[in-house]
Amino acid sequence: MLNLCVFASGSGSNFVELNKFAIKNKTKIFLKLLISNNSNCGAVDYAKKNQIDYKIIKFSRVVDYSIYVYEMLNCLKKNDIHLIALAGYLKKIPIEIIEKYNRKILNIHPSLLPKFGGKGYYGMNVHKAVIESGLKKTGVTIHFVDKEYDKGPILYQQEVPVLDEDTEKDLAARVLKVEHKIYKRIIKLLINNRIEWVGDKPIIKES
Ligand code: GRF
Repeated sequence: MLNLCVFASGSGSNFVELNKFAIKNKTKIFLKLLISNNSNCGAVDYAKKNQIDYKIIKFSRVVDYSIYVYEMLNCLKKNDIHLIALAGYLKKIPIEIIEKYNRKILNIHPSLLPKFGGKGYYGMNVHKAVIESGLKKTGVTIHFVDKEYDKGPILYQQEVPVLDEDTEKDLAARVLKVEHKIYKRIIKLLINNRIEWVGDKPIIKES
C-alpha cells in the first residue's frame, strides 16, 4: 500500500480527482494527507468534508526556515508518505523535501513544458501567455520534481488544441479536463510499477 500526500493551494479539482482515484484503487493507494499553505481554499474544504487528514504549513517570517522545513518533513514522515503529488501548490518545495523524496514527487503543469513554465507561469497566466503567443497547441505535462522549478524530468505530455475563438477561461477549462484524466492514469502506471528510470529519464514501460 502506497501512502499518497497531495500538496495543493487552490480550488483542488485535481485533488478531488486523485481522491476518487485512490478510493477506486484502495488496495494499492491511500490518499493519506493533504498539505496546504492556504487554510481558505477549495482543497482544504474538500478534505474537511471528506474526512481526509490535512495540515496547513505556512512559512512565516517569524519562524526560522529550518523549523518550517522540519515541520513539513516530520509531517510526511509521521504519515509514512511514499509518494507526493503536487496539484496546484503555489509554494516552492524546500530542497530538503526534494532530496528526501527524490523521484517520488510528481507535479502537473498546464502547458507543454518547457514552454510556459517557471517563474510567473501559474494559473491563468499560463493560458493567457499561450493565447498571446498565437500557438495552436498547448497541453499538460506531468513531471518529477527536482531542484529546478518546472524543469524536473518529464514523464508524460498530452497535447491540447488552442482554438481561434478561445478565451483564457475556455482554454483553462479544456486543459483542466485533460489534467483530471491523465494525473490518475500516470499515478496508476506508477503504482503498477510501469515507470522505469533509464539514467535520469523516466520511461513508461509497455504493458
Ligand atoms: C492546475 O492547472 C495544475 O496544472 C496547476 O495548478 C492547477 C490546479 O488546479 N499546477 P486545481 O486546484 O487542481 O483545480
